[in-house]
Amino acid sequence: MPNAYISGTGFHVPPRVVTNEDLRSQYGIDTTHEWILQRTGIESRRFADEGVGSADLALPASEAAIANAGLRKEDLDMIIFATLSPEHCFPGSGVYLQHKLGLCDGPDAKFVPALDVRNQCSGFLYGLATATSMVKSGASRHVLVVGAETHSAALDLTTRGRNVASLFGDGAGAVVVSATDEDRGVRAWRLGADGRFADTLSQRVWDIKKRPFITQDANGVGQVSPEMMWARMDGKLVFKNAVERMMRVLMEVCLAESISGQDIDLFVFHQANLRINQYLQQHLGIPDDKVVHNIQRYGNTTAATIPILLAEAVESGKLRRGMKVACVAFGSGFTWGAALIDW
Ligand code: UT7
Repeated sequence: MPNAYISGTGFHVPPRVVTNEDLRSQYGIDTTHEWILQRTGIESRRFADEGVGSADLALPASEAAIANAGLRKEDLDMIIFATLSPEHCFPGSGVYLQHKLGLCDGPDAKFVPALDVRNQCSGFLYGLATATSMVKSGASRHVLVVGAETHSAALDLTTRGRNVASLFGDGAGAVVVSATDEDRGVRAWRLGADGRFADTLSQRVWDIKKRPFITQDANGVGQVSPEMMWARMDGKLVFKNAVERMMRVLMEVCLAESISGQDIDLFVFHQANLRINQYLQQHLGIPDDKVVHNIQRYGNTTAATIPILLAEAVESGKLRRGMKVACVAFGSGFTWGAALIDW
């Protein structure tokens, strides 16, 4: 059975920087830089321009990951796309990315499977676990795993929506998971979910149990009320569960490999709130130089946080061959996951 390792990483964020002060001055939200910074650690985020979707953000991230792996796009056997902000209800973003990559064109067209993952902040780790299993089983040699989000289009950028709107930003991160006979790669992963909290952090938009599933006016034009249109979140409940679950799943994955936290060289935590991660860090006694963050610059990019962090850490030289990496995520669902990787 081959090992599954991350052969290449890449990321892309849109150029437009939106600071906490911009949320106040440009969007008229009743907030302050101090409130957002103190509660979350966020200083700015990136917003994509109108006309840009999640597959557009994913394209340069994926091209970089494929090039950094020393591969051509035709070498891919599968695409796994994790997002909670797909272009449309269906199909998912995976097929749009496949087309944009040019995989469907010309005499060498390669119609690889494109799988969409709907696990929000844990989506990348659900995708990584799936890719690892595909590679280890021998079904695929190179799987592209992408996390990409265009949150800015679907945030209630008014004072009414400030508790959610001030947290999220746009971006994309990608990795290629490849087969190898070398003694390295994804060693263990654990995933979990607790559907009792499905509505605690959700964006419903419609209710398929209703007829019609979106209310229509006399002309047949759909009308969505603000409670359905925008994401809702019980922030304190999410925070409490995030801390508990992230801690527990990290321990589970360490136990699976019979290692302790001290054996880990780099911790790559999901970027929902700097305070969540600082709490974990303090509780587990992790020194600052073993943790990477980017929430200060990008906000919460949901499925993209971990692959962006990996790509940035590789680019800066912070993440090098031979290091032991722990990735941990928690989010809407609730869903969570952890992976241990020998880089
Ligand atoms: O990826 C996973 C998803 N999300 C998370 O992991 C988020 C986890 N939760 C959190 O990070 C925190 O709960 C938040 C940062 C979202 C909120 O912090 P909090 O201390 O739980 O605040 P709160 O929601 O209890 O709100 C406290 C007050 C409220 O005002 P009142 O009712 O006390 O007058 C809010 O309306 O802060 C107000 N508030 C704001 N004020 C200024 C909420 N958002 C803002 C804002 N600016 N952006």
